[in-house]
Amino acid sequence: MASQAPTGEAIDRLIITPRPLSDYRDMFLLTDADLTAGPILDCPGGASPFGAQVRARAGSVVSVDRAYRLSRDELAERVRRDTALTETWTAANRESFNWAYLGSPVALRRLFEVAADLFLIDYAPDGERYVAASLPTLPFPDGAFRLTLSSHLLFCYPEYFTYEGHLTGIVELMRVTSGELRIFPLVDTTGRPYPRMDELCAALAERGILTETAIAACSYLAGGDSLLRCRWKEPR
Ligand SMILES: C[S@@+](CC[C@H](N)C(=O)[O-])C[C@H]1O[C@@H](n2cnc3c(N)ncnc32)[C@H](O)[C@@H]1O
Repeated sequence: MASQAPTGEAIDRLIITPRPLSDYRDMFLLTDADLTAGPILDCPGGASPFGAQVRARAGSVVSVDRAYRLSRDELAERVRRDTALTETWTAANRESFNWAYLGSPVALRRLFEVAADLFLIDYAPDGERYVAASLPTLPFPDGAFRLTLSSHLLFCYPEYFTYEGHLTGIVELMRVTSGELRIFPLVDTTGRPYPRMDELCAALAERGILTETAIAACSYLAGGDSLLRCRWKEPR
C-alpha cells in the first residue's frame, strides 16, 4: 500500500515557498477581522512570513511544517535555493501560470526573496510559533485553532499524497479546528483539478465535515483559482 503522506526523498523534492500575507489574503479570502479573531494554524507554513506578519497585527499564528526539523542554516539554504528555482521553473513553463497576478518570473522571485527574508528574521524552531510536524499527525488538542489555512500541499502533489492521505490529512486538520479550514489551490502543479474531489467531499460529509468551494482572489496556475472551505456540521 502506498504511504499516506510524502516521506523521505519525496518530501525533499517539494519546494519550500514563502508566500506572504498579501498572497494569503487573496488565496484564502481573509479579512482584517479574520486575522485577529482567534488562533490560526498555518499548515504547511513553509517559509511563509504569514505568521510573523499576523503577529505584527496582534494576531496569533502557529506555523507547522515538516521542514522545521531542519537546522536554521539548512532551512535558510533550502529556501534561498528553492526561491531561485521558482524563477527558473516558472520562466521555463510560462504558459502554465497566471502572469496577470504574478507579474513575471523576476517579479515573483523578488517578492519571494523579500518574503523569505521576513520569515528567516522571525523563524526559530521554538515549538510554539514554529512547530516541526507532518500531516497527517498534528501535536495539538481538538479544536485548538479557530481558523486553519493550508496552501500548496494538499491537491498539489497527488503523486506524493494518496487519496487516503488527503482524507486523513483533512480530517486531522479539522480535528484541531473549531471554526473553518481553508485549502488552496485545488489543482496540481500542472493545473489539473483534483480528480477525486467529489468522492473526498462525500467521505468528509460522512465524518460530519461540510465542504464548499469558493473563488479565490488570485491564482498562480492558470485555472487554479478555487479554494475549499471545510466546517463542522455540528459546530464545536
Ligand atoms: C509549496 S510549500 C507551501 C508553503 C506555504 N504554505 C506557501 O504557500 O508558500 C509546501 C510545504 O509543505 C511542506 N510539507 C510537505 N509534506 C508535509 C507534511 N506531510 N506535513 C507538513 N508539511 C509538509 C514542505 O516542507 C513545504 O514547506
